[in-house]
Amino acid sequence: MGVDWAGMIIAIDGPAGAGKSTIARALASALGLIFLDTGAMYRAVALACLRGDVSASDQEAVARMASEVHLSFDDEGAIYLDGEPGEPDIRSEAVDELVSPVAAIPAVRAAIVPKQHLVATRHGGLVAEGRDVTTVVFPEADFRFFLDASPRERARRRARQMGQLERVDEIERSLARRDAIDSGRADSPLRLGAGVTHLETDDLDAQGVVDLILATVGARADD
Ligand code: DC
Repeated sequence: MGVDWAGMIIAIDGPAGAGKSTIARALASALGLIFLDTGAMYRAVALACLRGDVSASDQEAVARMASEVHLSFDDEGAIYLDGEPGEPDIRSEAVDELVSPVAAIPAVRAAIVPKQHLVATRHGGLVAEGRDVTTVVFPEADFRFFLDASPRERARRRARQMGQLERVDEIERSLARRDAIDSGRADSPLRLGAGVTHLETDDLDAQGVVDLILATVGARADD
């Protein structure tokens, strides 16, 4: 039976480097939905702080920045910060280091989450990925997945993506630092929520994960 995907919300959480963006983007394209990279929004706030010389320890100034920045997306889901492309600067190592402390500030999340709800309201349906989209942002999503892989495998994937395989140990340490902050914070920590499907992806390539999720959502939607 054909399934009408318009209006469907698929939420995907998981630790850094688990492949969420690649998978979410491919799923969105296969189902004709838009793709929402919620991490890019926190990255854009961190980038604005770097540019404005705002330190993560000045929580009030960071929160002000989060409510004042204008965030938008193009049709491919790429983020714009105050009208300028956020890529590639939001992926810099300086942003990598700053983004987890910035995202741990409750007032920052309070400013960003309504913007995520707004994107969903405007488009009706979407594929969203992040750390809290299955538990806090879209707990009522039609489908919720927790995408996981071992720390070593995630570091290997990131290093391959960066074309810097020789830095795999250093990248693994950096991912571990971010995971510790993302999972240990008090507000909306990364966690496997009740009823969320846990997918271990060490032995799958990106297409394998996409196929698995498509089979799962297709089978359940056809019920
Ligand atoms: O997915 P990413 O690596 O681009 O995310 C960057 C950071 O943003 C991540 O370390 C934690 C934070 N984040 C968050 O707190 N909540 C989300 N929904 C998405 C990302």
